[in-house]
Amino acid sequence: MTVLVFLDPKFPEGRLADAAVPQLMAADLGATRGDGVFESMLAVDGTARKMDAHLDRMASSAQALDLAFPERESWERAVSTALSELLIQAGPTEAVVKLLLTRGVEGTGSPSAWVAASPVPAEVRERTAEGLAVLLLDRGYDSTVADRAPWLLLGAKTLSYAVNMAALRYAKAQGADDVIFTSSDGKVLEGPTSSVILAVEEDGVKTLLTPELESGILPGTTQRALFDAAEAAGWARGYGPLEPAHLMEADAVWLVSSIRLLAPVTSIDGTPIPSSPELTEELTALLRGAL
Ligand SMILES: Cc1ncc(COP(=O)(O)O)c(C=O)c1O
Repeated sequence: MTVLVFLDPKFPEGRLADAAVPQLMAADLGATRGDGVFESMLAVDGTARKMDAHLDRMASSAQALDLAFPERESWERAVSTALSELLIQAGPTEAVVKLLLTRGVEGTGSPSAWVAASPVPAEVRERTAEGLAVLLLDRGYDSTVADRAPWLLLGAKTLSYAVNMAALRYAKAQGADDVIFTSSDGKVLEGPTSSVILAVEEDGVKTLLTPELESGILPGTTQRALFDAAEAAGWARGYGPLEPAHLMEADAVWLVSSIRLLAPVTSIDGTPIPSSPELTEELTALLRGAL
C-alpha cells in the first residue's frame, strides 16, 4: 500500500492522490530520461527520521542537475500529510518515505514533485538479519573522476538507478545478495543502495571506517548519523581510501542505509568474512538512538 502526496501550490498541505491510478504524464522527463532526484527516509512513530539531512542532500542533488528545488516547508508539510494518511490506512507502522522530484513534462519547465509513503516490507528486516553475501563489482570509473567529470553526477542521488539495479540483478544471478562497487583503481566505494562501514580494533581502540566521500560516492545520511553516535559512545572514526583487503581483514563489515539500517556482510566474492552479532546489536542500538 502506498500513499501519494503531490507538492502543488494550490494545496498548501500537499495534494493527496490515488496511487492505484496513473498520476504522471507519459512525457515526464523523470520517466523518459530518469531526469530527477529522490530520497528514501525511514519514518518511525509517524515521524520521518533525519529529514534535515535528507532534504540537504536532495537540495544538493537537485543543484547538481540544475533543477529548481521546492521550498523545504512544502516537502515537510507533504510528508506530514502522507504519514497522517498512512496511519489512517495502515495503522502504526515503520514506513518508507520517498521524496521525488523530476524535471517534469518536456517543454513545460514545471517540475513534478511528490511524496510516496508505504510500510517497510517485513522481508527487509528478515533478510537483513540473515547477513549478506556480497560481490565486489567494478564500477568502471577511477576514484578521482567525480571532481574531473561533475556531469557524471556521482555524488547525487538521481533517478537514474538502472545501473545500480542491474548490478543487484547481476549479483543475484550469481547467488549473492548485494554488491560493493570498487573503482577502476581498486578502491572500495559503496553499495548500489548503501554505504560501506567497517569495524576494526587496533591497540584497544574501536574504530569505524568508511570510504572517503571524494571518491565519487553518495554521502550517506545513515553513515554520518552512525559515526556521530558511535563517536559520542567512545568509538574512533576514519575515512578511506579503503581496498578490498581491508574488507577481508576487518572485524565486521556492514552495508548501511536509511531503511535497512545496518546489514552485516558475511561473505565477499564467496569467501566468508568475520561478522559480529554483538557489534551489529551495539551499533544498531546507537543508530536507532540517534534517529
Ligand atoms: C548509492 C547509495 N549510497 C549510499 C546510500 C545510503 O544512504 P542513506 O544512508 O542516506 O540512506 C544510498 C541509499 O539509498 C545509495 O543509494
